[in-house]
Amino acid sequence: MRKGIFLTVMFACFFLVMSVGLSEASNPCNPCNPCSKKTGSKGDAKKQIRAKHITDYKKLVAMGKKMWNDESLNDSGMSCMTCHADHENLNLDKYHGLWPHNVKGMTDDIVTLSQMINYCLINPMESKPLDYNSIHMTAMTAYYREYIKTYKGANPCSMKNNPCNPCSMKKKNPCNPCGR
Ligand code: HEC
Repeated sequence: MRKGIFLTVMFACFFLVMSVGLSEASNPCNPCNPCSKKTGSKGDAKKQIRAKHITDYKKLVAMGKKMWNDESLNDSGMSCMTCHADHENLNLDKYHGLWPHNVKGMTDDIVTLSQMINYCLINPMESKPLDYNSIHMTAMTAYYREYIKTYKGANPCSMKNNPCNPCSMKKKNPCNPCGR
């Protein structure tokens, strides 16, 4: 009797394992499935967004930093940092670098970071937009990511009509750190 139950359980387990195995093997989307289409071989390689890849993040950030400071991106000698030094105009208090959001004053449109970079490139910079899939665009966003990490929070002097703003105190007040 006991042997009968044991055999039934064994058979049940066997069929369970087989059916899971088969369904995984027949799932071509499972990257761990050795029977799914091989990638990298001719004909069925993964489609890539660009021909050249970059995997060195530090190199990417350095490239982006150079571009944000590049005064030759347009003819007027401006760089992105002309208007964005000290995190100026980056709306970090409001959005903490989260995208997409509405850049009201400029686009009045909900845009991604890459779209905003292109917006500033073609408007204030009067330059050419970058290809969204390019390493250059990824570099611009990588530097933005690192640059905003150094933001120390709102400048109290920029808060207007805030009763907690020490700068709303009269300049002559010796306790006013902004009056010095
Ligand atoms: C002439 C000044 C000027 C230049 C040059 C400039 N920008 Fe801007 N940018 C602005 C202003 C002003 C805003 C803020 C718009 C607003 O808040 O509505 C802005 C907004 C942005 C924002 C969005 C901030 C946010 O989170 O809402 C990004 C990102 C940005 N610029 C990137 C760049 C990059 C990259 C370059 C260089 C390719 C650049 N900007 C060049 C003036 C400039």
